[in-house]
Amino acid sequence: MHIESDLLRSLAEKVGTPFWLYSAPTIRERISEIREVTADGVQARFAMKSCPATRVLEEMQKAGIWIDAVSGNEVLRAMHAGHPGGQQPPVILYTSDVFRDNGLPVVLEQGILPNVGSAGMLADLAAAGYRGDVSIRVNPGFGHGHVNSCDTGGPSSKHGIWLEQLGEVAAKAEAAGLRVVMLHAHIGSGPRFEELCENLERLAGEFAALLPQFPHLQGVSLGGGIPHNYRQADAQIPLAPLRELFARCRETLCRAAGRPIRVEIEPGRYFVASGCVLVARVADVKTTSTNEKGQGATFAMVDAGFVDLVRPAMYGSYHRIEVVAQDGGERAVGPIVVAGPLCESGDVFTRDDAELLVPRDLPQPVAGDLLVLHDAGAYGYAMSSNYNSIGRAPQVWLEADGSTSLISRRETLEDLLRAEVNEAI
Ligand code: LLP
Repeated sequence: MHIESDLLRSLAEKVGTPFWLYSAPTIRERISEIREVTADGVQARFAMKSCPATRVLEEMQKAGIWIDAVSGNEVLRAMHAGHPGGQQPPVILYTSDVFRDNGLPVVLEQGILPNVGSAGMLADLAAAGYRGDVSIRVNPGFGHGHVNSCDTGGPSSKHGIWLEQLGEVAAKAEAAGLRVVMLHAHIGSGPRFEELCENLERLAGEFAALLPQFPHLQGVSLGGGIPHNYRQADAQIPLAPLRELFARCRETLCRAAGRPIRVEIEPGRYFVASGCVLVARVADVKTTSTNEKGQGATFAMVDAGFVDLVRPAMYGSYHRIEVVAQDGGERAVGPIVVAGPLCESGDVFTRDDAELLVPRDLPQPVAGDLLVLHDAGAYGYAMSSNYNSIGRAPQVWLEADGSTSLISRRETLEDLLRAEVNEAI
């Protein structure tokens, strides 16, 4: 996503830094790419955990993209943005491994299809008097995350019901009056597209073999996980082969069932990663010198930190960084460590998953320059926090005609204190 420097400077003046800037055309482009590969009767959902902004959810609603929600509040947020509740059809799916807070009540009250990841959740549903349709999330035993902590298929993953236990769990569900109408797995977005394709075909095959055991089955979800190329956004692998692959999976599943089966996918990241940047201001540039403990570095100190974008600190994730010089002038390129304002040494955007600094060759910034962290739309604002009582940064929406609007304001101290009480219990 390319944004003119003048626009960035003027927005920085108006809303302050740091701020998030979404590009509606970029998000719409990604939506149409997904619509293209699902055109042969496959239903796409948006894994809204990646970016729950109402404006984004409204775009999905207009485009006929359904929702994968992970909490009661995500369900309610999706409904607030215009997505219907109910199961006819199940536009919102509630996928989790545990019911907490309002999860179970919302599923019951709004008639949401629950996609359960543990037998305990089936027991919770039955105990609450629910007698209806359920989806079961399985852990198929294979798959890939971009880092180990994002691995969603395999013995070390907490997600879903281990495939070999599915028969037993499904029998218990049916005995409790819960009809299994959907099977689901999310095998994660590994960095390699070919691997995702192989895994999706393998998953469809595994599900096809299970179909005879599920006479009420109406749908199969192959999950999310379409990777985004964070290092070279312009060299994104074309998704076109997925259209045929999804059509093939659908054919395999319908043939195995002997009736139409709704095949679903639920990307999060691919829809939104490229559609948002985090814009920070350089507050200072300082250096350390090489000594017996290690190599010296040049630090560009910016006003955004891992309270805004946590992916580099949490997974060592790479986000492309652009320096927007205040004076528009040329700068010599050199190795820079970009660090934030938090009282944590790990508050660094240029690092790897072994917690080591990885200085980035960047135009040498000076205080007052803007610094843009690209591809921040997925798991960006969504994972921002109130650590250090800073408050979340505002989100700005850029329309195709160049107009901009504030879609969430900067959080204030009052926002942070709003839930604090002093009540005897
Ligand atoms: N479906 C389910 C059930 C999921 O658990 C997820 C992601 C998705 C779909 C969407 O996966 P995607 O297409 O976005 O890769 N915070 C991490 C990612 C955690 C993914 C959690 N589940 C990150 O920033 O990379």
